[in-house]
Amino acid sequence: MQIITDPHAFQQRAMAERASGATTALVPTMGFFHEGHLSLMRWARENADTVFVSLFVNPTQFGPDEDLDAYPRDLDRDARLAEEAGVDVLFAPDPRAIYAEDHATWVEVPTLAQHLCGASRPVHFRGVATIVSILLHLAMPSMAVFGQKDWQQLALLRRMARDLFIPTEIIGRPIVREADGLALSSRNVYLTPQERQQAPHINKGVQHIAALAEAGERSAAALKAAFADYIAQHIPGAEVDYFELVHPDNIQPVHDLTGPTLAATAVRIGKARLLDNTLLLADA
Ligand code: PAF
Repeated sequence: MQIITDPHAFQQRAMAERASGATTALVPTMGFFHEGHLSLMRWARENADTVFVSLFVNPTQFGPDEDLDAYPRDLDRDARLAEEAGVDVLFAPDPRAIYAEDHATWVEVPTLAQHLCGASRPVHFRGVATIVSILLHLAMPSMAVFGQKDWQQLALLRRMARDLFIPTEIIGRPIVREADGLALSSRNVYLTPQERQQAPHINKGVQHIAALAEAGERSAAALKAAFADYIAQHIPGAEVDYFELVHPDNIQPVHDLTGPTLAATAVRIGKARLLDNTLLLADA
């Protein structure tokens, strides 16, 4: 596996792959790999000739009071795991190599950033859309692979790629979970042992809502109230940042469920803000 830190050198390598006719897949990450990241890399390994992974803790997607400095990092371990997963190139640039001091260009997809995480993280999706568009310009991949845990991010990047005619297929892959249901996240390391015991209730709460919808409940207000009750009962002290029912493609709120609907939540437990989601009425 080659490790490249210089964006121009990475772009040269990507151009050479393209010229050779190879299909390429990019897995954009912020590092501190877990099974979720590795499952994306393995999928890429099986579906493309050449696999690029980017590892970049993107400063522009963190708000001023967020965890940019505390975000977990371990480049040596990540490089070893990426190599084991069959990655060809690990692109790990310095922030100053990506963002010039007078960087002035931003990519925004405002309608998809209005709700869910966008409501409490106002600059987040502008940072995500900008860095992913930079990475796609550098790597020019046939495919880019993302996890469905960040469903809103995936929907927004799909729209960005479509609107900007970016010739990369945006692939979403299923959430990888611990045996007790907790969605894997680099931020799970923020949980204390006691919080870690409680955290699977986020997924259990989402599954409870899925069961109510399955049994015929169609009112988003009733489902939201049921989720709030579930969390209050099972994780006292947790704060539900949001639990929303939205259209899975345009991320607009749904009031009465009539077709496939995304149930998505962010819950704060101690220092961790954890996401989960599921698709309700997938076959409707
Ligand atoms: O999902 C992430 O880890 C990040 O938001 C991404 C897509 C790598 C952009 O920094």
